[in-house]
Amino acid sequence: MAMNNRVVLVTGAGNGIGAEIAKTYATNKDIVIVSDVSGEDAERTTETIKEAGGRATAYTCDVTDVSQITEMMAWIELEFGRLDICINNAGISKWVSPLELEVEEWDKVMNTNVRGTFICSREAVKLMITHNLEGSIVNIASTRAAMSEPNSEAYAASKGAIVSLTHALAASFRTNGIQVNCISPGWIHTGDTDELREVDHNQHFSNRVGEPGDIARACLFLSHKDNRFITGENITIDGGMTKKMIYEH
Ligand code: NAI
Repeated sequence: MAMNNRVVLVTGAGNGIGAEIAKTYATNKDIVIVSDVSGEDAERTTETIKEAGGRATAYTCDVTDVSQITEMMAWIELEFGRLDICINNAGISKWVSPLELEVEEWDKVMNTNVRGTFICSREAVKLMITHNLEGSIVNIASTRAAMSEPNSEAYAASKGAIVSLTHALAASFRTNGIQVNCISPGWIHTGDTDELREVDHNQHFSNRVGEPGDIARACLFLSHKDNRFITGENITIDGGMTKKMIYEH
């Protein structure tokens, strides 16, 4: 795989971490499909990339809708003739007591975060195999796969499932030379950094809260052709928060 001119799909790329991932690949001179359930948000990210001289195309796709995913992959094949990298970033959360969590809310979180990641990965791999490409998939999980605050059941379960799904896919597609990894971000602030307090930064070993670029650079690293020995892995990027002892003295 050359290290630019690759065709990269980023889901949930209209905002936050996904938008930064899309911009980072575009800066690397790759060709980016900025996919989001909000067409307006996908267009906005795409325009920003184009204004900076990058190559990007917006595509509206709801990852809970299997037919929209398969249509998107057919469009990618028609438009670009290949898919080298798929970043499964689209995700939602729900903070509510497990006693009050509606089944429909549970399903929505699982269908977006887990099923969406599975179907996008599967359909992306089909395209990679058809075009004989040793592609790379990066799934965005969370440190909440491994530790919890109250009222996060659906989100935590969905992110744990993404970590497991990642190594299962890495095993299944090894014979096709496809690499599958995931990243577990900690607190990544996607808004105005002025909103953050000193205590927010200082509680991290890194002395700062995470930024979308911290995750975007890791995606670039994982999908670099020299790093194909890394597969099935979950890389935690959280400024050290999950390594911090929390006994009270
Ligand atoms: P965000 O809410 O700013 O952006 C998520 C994007 O996904 C939005 O553009 C939204 O329109 C899109 N989206 C939502 N449902 C979708 C669907 N059904 N189909 C397609 N797109 C859909 O979120 P953020 O913070 O940028 O998070 C991105 C990913 O990183 C998520 O998977 C999230 O769980 C994960 N994450 C974020 C952390 C953080 O501190 N920001 C920490 C750990 C994980």
